Amino acid sequence: MLRTILSRPTLWTGAAVAFAAVIVAGCGVSGTDLSDDASREQVAQGRVVYERSCASCHGIDADGTDRGPSFLNDVYEPSHHADGAFLLAVKVGVPEHHWNFGDMPPVEGVSDDEIAGIVGYIRSLQRAEGIE
Ligand code: HEC
Repeated sequence: MLRTILSRPTLWTGAAVAFAAVIVAGCGVSGTDLSDDASREQVAQGRVVYERSCASCHGIDADGTDRGPSFLNDVYEPSHHADGAFLLAVKVGVPEHHWNFGDMPPVEGVSDDEIAGIVGYIRSLQRAEGIE
């Protein structure tokens, strides 16, 4: 029901956003749980933004390149890297710490909504690989 509401952009009034925020907060889930709240359109948009802004390093199917890690491994399962880690990574970048690819620079021009969609998209790829 909530998903149906969320998938109708015309209903994205301030009231609906506030309503959704109350539900998320009310579940006791941390406010960083962006992907559960991402609508289908947001995830589709997230895929487009991912392919434009992230795939050059993280791979077109999130399976990594020689410039950045794959998200399809247990290191990036939701309990190790919660959705907030994605927000931070995009906003401030990531100093090299898990691998030897070097630092990830901050990525400009990606909105919070788009990041929620990117996370939703990556989580769907992870689920397909049995990473939950
Ligand atoms: C220039 C290459 C590059 C681009 C572009 C890039 N990343 Fe990264 N990213 C990296 C590298 C390298 C790491 C691994 C750093 C480490 O842990 O050693 C990383 C790590 C991450 C992490 C893990 C953060 C953590 O806390 O360990 C997340 C999340 C992430 N990237 C998300 C994204 C998203 C989302 C985008 C697109 C908006 C993106 N990255 C674009 C190179 C890149």
